[in-house]
Amino acid sequence: MTRTQLVMANWKQQGSEPALKHWLSEVSVPDLAKLSRVLCVPLPYLAALRQQRATLQSPVLAGAQLVSAWSGGAYTGEVSAAMLREFGVAYTLVGHSERRQWLQETADSRRAQLAALWQQGITPVLCVGETAAQHQQGQTFAVLWQQLAEVLDPQPAPGPLVLAYEPVFAIGSGQPLSAPDAQQVHQQLRQLLQHWYSAADCQQIRILYGGSVNSNNAAEYLRYPDIDGVLVGSGSLKADSFNTLCRAIAAVNTSQCVALP
Ligand code: 13P
Repeated sequence: MTRTQLVMANWKQQGSEPALKHWLSEVSVPDLAKLSRVLCVPLPYLAALRQQRATLQSPVLAGAQLVSAWSGGAYTGEVSAAMLREFGVAYTLVGHSERRQWLQETADSRRAQLAALWQQGITPVLCVGETAAQHQQGQTFAVLWQQLAEVLDPQPAPGPLVLAYEPVFAIGSGQPLSAPDAQQVHQQLRQLLQHWYSAADCQQIRILYGGSVNSNNAAEYLRYPDIDGVLVGSGSLKADSFNTLCRAIAAVNTSQCVALP
């Protein structure tokens, strides 16, 4: 079983068009045979991303940070999955904790977003994770179960899925969950997925870790068998650090991987 490693940059509500152009002109990684890179920009920059991606020597896929739950119509301010596809979006975040916390997105809305993305052939990246209080009270497993069940029950649509495990307290705090701890949670997540997917399909689903990942610690996560990539916020804003991060991950070889008992 081989899952292609995935490094996703999430710029959140940051950046500018000149910053994007500069980032894309600087981004470079020589050996990307086993690594895909995705850049999730704010929506207004998707056009510039599409235009400049075409000229890049090392590929960066386009990602979005949100999608409408509706396929189209009179919903002021919303952007449909079909519109994202027009701009070449390949991956879209769903259920990021910042949207859960600040934008009151509901489980129904997340379910509809997943369906809309699958219908347009875009891969959803479903973000899950517990708060500090839930973590301290030993509720991680129960929270993750709930966050999966509310969108996958009774049966997920037959489309590709990526999970991103982002413990809320690790986001933007400079205090990442350690790689061994993240591995434990990822292993549990893969087991939970068996409730909806065949064992073989669970082995194909990529699970990313996110929360204070940077160019110094990123490679450590990829040494663990159930961690298939990283979702990076502030550590992705500067092209040179992002390049260093990607190179460090690409350099992890199988002899450095942690064998579990
Ligand atoms: P930071 O990497 O800034 O902690 O953000 C993580 C995140 O939320 C990515 O989606």
